[in-house]
Amino acid sequence: MAEYDAGPYVPRGADLTGLRRAAAGCRGCPLYADATQTVFGRGEPSARAVLVGEQPGDQEDRQGRPFVGPAGKVLDRALAEAGIDPGEVYVTSAVKHFKFTVQERGKRRIHKQPTLREVSACRPWLTAELELIAPDIVVALGATAAKALMGPEFRVTRQRGELLTPGVPLDGARLLATVHPAAVLRAGEDREAMFQGLVADLRIVAARLS
Ligand code: URA
Repeated sequence: MAEYDAGPYVPRGADLTGLRRAAAGCRGCPLYADATQTVFGRGEPSARAVLVGEQPGDQEDRQGRPFVGPAGKVLDRALAEAGIDPGEVYVTSAVKHFKFTVQERGKRRIHKQPTLREVSACRPWLTAELELIAPDIVVALGATAAKALMGPEFRVTRQRGELLTPGVPLDGARLLATVHPAAVLRAGEDREAMFQGLVADLRIVAARLS
């Protein structure tokens, strides 16, 4: 059976550019086989906040950049409403390859949730990004990111919006968990309320950054 561990692919002592380059060749779990490319984080190494999503979607997989599809538009709007300069944040995902099933005779690629095993396999990339950036605050967008950073028992519904101690070694940093922007898009008539909830949580981040 294939190994599930990105660890051996993570170069020691590399900067973010070096990590991104090495991640392009990651074979640390089987997800690389069907995805177009690795979607590594984007942003400046000096960013004071790191936002972590679940995994790239269809658009991200095609463009090779995180949060450039519909969920990314929601995130951009929420950051703007919360008063956070997008240039101040680094955005990434817990899993760096798009996992999907194909529907409508091969026309549509539908997002499939990564397993705990895939999230754990990919975690060495996330911890390497966090160690290099050493942000003041990490924002877990949704349950997958929150569990990757806080352990499988963590529940966003119970602890969203709180300033917590991250479950990964980051000196003095705080972690805040909130909903994933894609959940806003799926929320039907509750969409506006859920969006405002995301903005309210991001305002806590903005206050920490100011
Ligand atoms: N959701 C994520 O978690 N990451 C992306 O890049 C896009 C959607």
